[in-house]
Amino acid sequence: MTTKCVDDFRLRFGNRELVPIVIGGMGVDISTAELALVAARMGGVGHISDAMMPTVSDRLYQTNFVKDKLKQYKLNVKNSDKSEVKFRLGEIEEATRLHVNRTMEAKRGEGMVFINCMEKLTMNAPKETLKVRLTAALDAGIDGITLAAGLHLGSLAMIEDHPRFRDAKIGIIVSSLRALQLFMRKNIRTGRLPDYVVVEGPLAGGHLGFGLEDWMKYDLTTIVAEIATWLKAEHLDIPIITAGGIFTGSDAVNFLEYGASAVQVATRFTVSKECGLPDPVKQEYFKANEEDIEVNGISPTGYPMRMIKGSPGIGAGTHPNCESFGYLLDANGRCAYIDAYNREVAAHPEAKKIKVWDKTCLCTHMRNFDIWTCGHNAYRLKDTTRKNPDGSYQLLTAEHVFRDYQFSKEGKVLLPA
Ligand SMILES: Cc1cc2nc3c(=O)[nH]c(=O)nc-3n(C[C@H](O)[C@H](O)[C@H](O)COP(=O)(O)O)c2cc1C
Repeated sequence: MTTKCVDDFRLRFGNRELVPIVIGGMGVDISTAELALVAARMGGVGHISDAMMPTVSDRLYQTNFVKDKLKQYKLNVKNSDKSEVKFRLGEIEEATRLHVNRTMEAKRGEGMVFINCMEKLTMNAPKETLKVRLTAALDAGIDGITLAAGLHLGSLAMIEDHPRFRDAKIGIIVSSLRALQLFMRKNIRTGRLPDYVVVEGPLAGGHLGFGLEDWMKYDLTTIVAEIATWLKAEHLDIPIITAGGIFTGSDAVNFLEYGASAVQVATRFTVSKECGLPDPVKQEYFKANEEDIEVNGISPTGYPMRMIKGSPGIGAGTHPNCESFGYLLDANGRCAYIDAYNREVAAHPEAKKIKVWDKTCLCTHMRNFDIWTCGHNAYRLKDTTRKNPDGSYQLLTAEHVFRDYQFSKEGKVLLPA
């Protein structure tokens, strides 16, 4: 076994050197500004998320975007056709600027703060809303943008005229060589390569870039090898950041020795004080055993998602809240949850409350922290802390978890004092 630790390596962007630990984006505000700022202070990279920014802004900065949108579309609530329910672009811009500005103003240290931008949040006008989100984040001084979930192949072209297009770091998350090749082919015209490629394997949290039936047949090391070989053959010098299931510093070192430039990690930080999940939910993450975690198809995005089986959002049968939220409405104002909900209502016309098992109202339940998404290794979180006298688990500081990744050796996990 290697005697090295993560701190023996560095992530290089030009002449800038960083601790090669990236805390991945976790929507909706699970990867808070506070969490991202710890990573930056420690010399690594943290992410905030741009998922449901107007909704998050209301909670953090006392804006009224959700109330105003609901007021505007109140008469549409009972209508199953949501095509009229649009976001005001100015409000998305304002919310994004607010969150990014406040975060960047608070940033200290040598590290960086990026924003995770999930392109599957199509918001009933995919191109227009994505362009505003990306532009506002750059305007507000974000260090970098990670394009995730549902890679919109024209996203670089949308911002190529922005003055910060070449100075901000821009990376993409892929789970296959094919996805990377597609992105590169479509974006070559902008003359700008991604600054990094996050290669995310099947053990990650959140949505997975694999099929519901076959995700378990893939493994991160094989995908990384394919991508590294291709990049080399094409003479493309793009740092690879590996993600998904990296639970200890030694797991990270294995990838860094193998040629990765950094690792992206998330699940271990879900039980940190700075993480946005409510404290009782963090206890659910600690308590979860391996058999309590599943990959299912209830996300209306069509991507499989990993979560704790006890998530209250599973089967909830919530009335669709697109007039308040509506982040997953596609270009035609449709969402797979609305169809599933209407089907159940039609099948049980007398019922006061219905259950919908095959899809969930992801906007509502991510906003309320009722879908407990996690990486495969979440069942090991209980081994990273101590129990309190009352039987609950002790929360960790993000600094503690970061340092453990940075300095631990021999597969060990440092328990808190
Ligand atoms: C609670 C949670 C929420 C996540 N949300 C997102 C997200 O909004 N966008 C995204 O690209 N990845 C998301 N992810 C994936 C992480 O950013 C990261 O790449 C992955 O989970 C790393 O694997 P690990 O959790 O095993 O360390 C999420 C992960 C978790 C645990």
